[in-house]
Amino acid sequence: MFIGIDLGTSSIKTILIDENQKTIDQSSTELKLSNPRNGYYEQNPDEWFKATLKCLHSLKKKNSKKFSATKAIGISGQMHGATLLDNYGKVLRPCILWNDTRSSKECTIMEKKYPLLRKETGNIAMPGFTAPKILWIKKNEPNIFRKINKILLPKDYLRFRLTNAFFTDMSDASGTLWLNVRKRIWSEKLLNISGLNISNMPSLVEGSEPTEYLSLKIKNEFGFDNNVIVAGGAGDQAAGAFGASVIKDNQSMISLGTSGVYFSPSSKFFSNTNQGVHSFCHCLPKTWHQMSVMLSATNCINWFSNLHGIKIQKSLLKAQNYFENQFISNSTPFFLPYLSGERTPHNNPHLRGSFHLLNTSTNFDSLIYSIIEGISFGIRDGYDAVNYNGKKSNEIYFVGGGSKSLFLSNFIASTLNKEILVAEDSELGPALGVARLAMIATNIYKISDINKKMKIVRKCKPKKNVNKILQDRYEKWTQITKVNNSISNEIMDN
Ligand code: XUL
Repeated sequence: MFIGIDLGTSSIKTILIDENQKTIDQSSTELKLSNPRNGYYEQNPDEWFKATLKCLHSLKKKNSKKFSATKAIGISGQMHGATLLDNYGKVLRPCILWNDTRSSKECTIMEKKYPLLRKETGNIAMPGFTAPKILWIKKNEPNIFRKINKILLPKDYLRFRLTNAFFTDMSDASGTLWLNVRKRIWSEKLLNISGLNISNMPSLVEGSEPTEYLSLKIKNEFGFDNNVIVAGGAGDQAAGAFGASVIKDNQSMISLGTSGVYFSPSSKFFSNTNQGVHSFCHCLPKTWHQMSVMLSATNCINWFSNLHGIKIQKSLLKAQNYFENQFISNSTPFFLPYLSGERTPHNNPHLRGSFHLLNTSTNFDSLIYSIIEGISFGIRDGYDAVNYNGKKSNEIYFVGGGSKSLFLSNFIASTLNKEILVAEDSELGPALGVARLAMIATNIYKISDINKKMKIVRKCKPKKNVNKILQDRYEKWTQITKVNNSISNEIMDN
């Protein structure tokens, strides 16, 4: 038996699988998100640990014998967050999360101080990444900064509580801006710019390598029969990709949840910093990936639906009905999905969402349609940015909460003019991905034994006539975005 734990932003998901990767059971617990100021997002790391224990107890309760036979655990999680520990392993402040944009000035400082930063990391300094968050703390909370002994990414804090050991994996470490992504080693120079050194970092391993066994305390609390090894694991996107068996150059994956991602693996290191593409290690040795990240994807739908007291499912039906029966291009509004700024391709934390082309007949249905369209166009931007170097994928998988909607899946296929494959259980991707890494970490299985392709439940083909309409709308939407991008700083008064 193997366990996968995925520390998301809104919940922890855990999964128990057997030697054939059959899901025995799953359990999840909601997490609170605190938004103390505009652009600030934080969570309490102790809550992550408590929620993880709750999930594990629930798995154990329903599957006692199988659960006890667990051999290895994999952990994946939301990336980039800075969990700060003092010399005694105590958490110094709430974790500043991946979607927090407070450290944009620090990004400019980092790039100025070290002009080779983009070349060495393969990435632009973005406020979502870990290093600028630490520079912000250094300036604004010097008493906390002075006490920092270790900085852990969210999932690595869970590992620390489960094993007492400090490790991270290459895919998650890539999002810190302290990793030389091409060479897969910490960069002393980049750490020094943040006032840190290698001793403040956890040890690096590949996602499929073993780290440490569960502590005796945890082993006894859950009554495991074996010494349970914890694998390196992965950042949530890499884990989701491995869960969907997306590891080859000709494959890619769209993940639509709170954030929207286009993820494309490669057997070589590439970067495209001009368009804010993330260039990270994958969770397997000698594999990398390029990825676009839009910060607000399905949460634009949630936001608008909640505002009107309408269930998400109903909103999707209304958008579909609008598109199929009422859509007239020049009276349909446009929506820019930048509720929390944007990473790819704009790298602009000051961009915000907006509606355009409103008229007296604009109603809920046309607005919610425009939101779905704006999200799809955001994915299209990311797809173009990642494929800028001429990369081609002939297998594009669609995962995450958004993949449950047939309308959304078809709509994205037509937006990209590409066939989209929706895999079974695609929502469990990251937890399944790290449960698979845990299997490899036992040294009983090879990558080739594990990498079974997911069962495809739906193939969504692009429709020519829909693609034509959307291409025209996309070009107009791009113009509106350009104007908003250029005035966003002024509007936000920065
Ligand atoms: C990736 C990223 C998100 C978070 C939250 O760069 O920021 O995927 O990990 O899901």
